[in-house]
Amino acid sequence: MKTEKPKLLIVDDEERAWKVLKINFQDRYDVLVAKNGAEAVKVLDKEQVDTILTDVKMPEMSGIELLKHVKKTSDWIPVVVMTAFGSVENAVEAMKAGAYDYILKPIKIEDAELVVKRAVEYSSMLQENRSLKDRLKEYEVPQDIITINSEMRSLIGLVKEVAVTDASVLIEGESGTGKELFARALHRMSVRSEGPFIEVNCGAIPHELFESELFGHERGAFTGAVSTKKGKLELAENGTIFLDEIGEMPLDLQVKLLHVLENRQFTRVGGTTFLQSAARVVAATNRNLKDDVESGRFRKDLYYRLKVVYLHVPPLRERREDIPLLVDHFIAKHGETAKKKITGIDREAVDILRLHSWSGNVRELENVVLQTMIFARGGQIAVDSLPAEIRDSVGPLTEHVPATKDELQKEKVRRTEKVLMDLERTFLLNLIEQSAGNISEAARISSYDRRQIQNLVKKHGIDVSKLRDV
Ligand SMILES: Nc1ncnc2c1ncn2[C@@H]1O[C@H](COP(=O)(O)OP(=O)(O)OP(=O)(O)O)[C@@H](O)[C@H]1O
Ligand SMILES: [Mg+2]
Repeated sequence: MKTEKPKLLIVDDEERAWKVLKINFQDRYDVLVAKNGAEAVKVLDKEQVDTILTDVKMPEMSGIELLKHVKKTSDWIPVVVMTAFGSVENAVEAMKAGAYDYILKPIKIEDAELVVKRAVEYSSMLQENRSLKDRLKEYEVPQDIITINSEMRSLIGLVKEVAVTDASVLIEGESGTGKELFARALHRMSVRSEGPFIEVNCGAIPHELFESELFGHERGAFTGAVSTKKGKLELAENGTIFLDEIGEMPLDLQVKLLHVLENRQFTRVGGTTFLQSAARVVAATNRNLKDDVESGRFRKDLYYRLKVVYLHVPPLRERREDIPLLVDHFIAKHGETAKKKITGIDREAVDILRLHSWSGNVRELENVVLQTMIFARGGQIAVDSLPAEIRDSVGPLTEHVPATKDELQKEKVRRTEKVLMDLERTFLLNLIEQSAGNISEAARISSYDRRQIQNLVKKHGIDVSKLRDV
């Protein structure tokens, strides 16, 4: 955790201007000064700056050029541009080039203070996210499951624990939540990781072919069975068989599958020899199987056989804090495909993605990011490159452009509060995780007292018990 003052870089060629700012900011910020863009670039090479406050018109290198440089080299540093009243086009250009915000000259100190404070908070949130992500990379075994959500973290912990056993696993969750990702992670972490991972999509196989698909068939077992064929269960050998959309499995086959799970042996269709099966069974469904059991669509005995270990993957709308991380992950993942140099996404666009309801969950988010990357012009993804149906689905944030000073002020407060809440939540989750859910330890690390931490936990509705020792 950072204890020193945040570093603010002021860039202005006019001595009187930077002096006034410096005097006003130096008690809360570590203030650095540069006389033009080129000097600023030199400072940035040496120092870890948290926020830049820059004039536009300067000799050698303008504020806009500096901004473009920062966007390319260190895009987590927010740049606030100061522009003379009457040259609003500068401000527009700066915002388009990715400035965090702008203030008009002559500068009102209260305005500057507010904007800089917000920018620094935003910057520390970005840095926090970056370090969280770095840590995720380090010690999370399934590196491809991107999440900072507590429930998801518990699931990952559970997967680690049960991976080494032979227990059957049932994974439930809405479409696109990452069920297959969990199934594969489970396989990779298990002692069977050297064996095959065989997938069966139970929803895609015609009923009459199902049995032969699963158990295989002997030559001549039925018309069209011209040669002997191994089934998926046999192919899975000592690996994992992943029964996707298990809820679609026909009832008569459910009986046969149950039989295999109980006796660990089966015969090919038309065959008489008993074959052994050592495959680990992982099943997934986006239905509520319990309901199907009650309505008689799914066999109760098979349900309990499969559900020795149960994972419920929460929908994306219940873990919105994962959205910024996932977006970054997909930008990196699809950089090649989209053939664009996309460096990231701006905060308003992220806000919109965070508010969308995502009925198609992570898969829908991934598709939207990819689609956006293809149509973006390069640089940062901004609101106007998001698909219209996403922007429209969110509403107020984008539609409501403040028209008066009063409205603007209210909107600023609203958005600032949102950023602060997010920041606080990320900070808290990070802290709880560092202290393995031990409140006293969290208090010690953060120099809050225990009661303050408990209040914060309550305010953000975090279930600490779920985070303990994951
Ligand atoms: N936490 C995550 N981190 C990174 N990628 C994810 C995450 N969750 C899902 N994905 C990605 O989203 C896509 C959908 O995930 P997956 O196929 O595992 O979902 P599913 O629950 O099996 O969906 P369906 O029910 O439609 O079969 C995949 O490309 C997967 O890599
Ligand atoms: Mg799937």
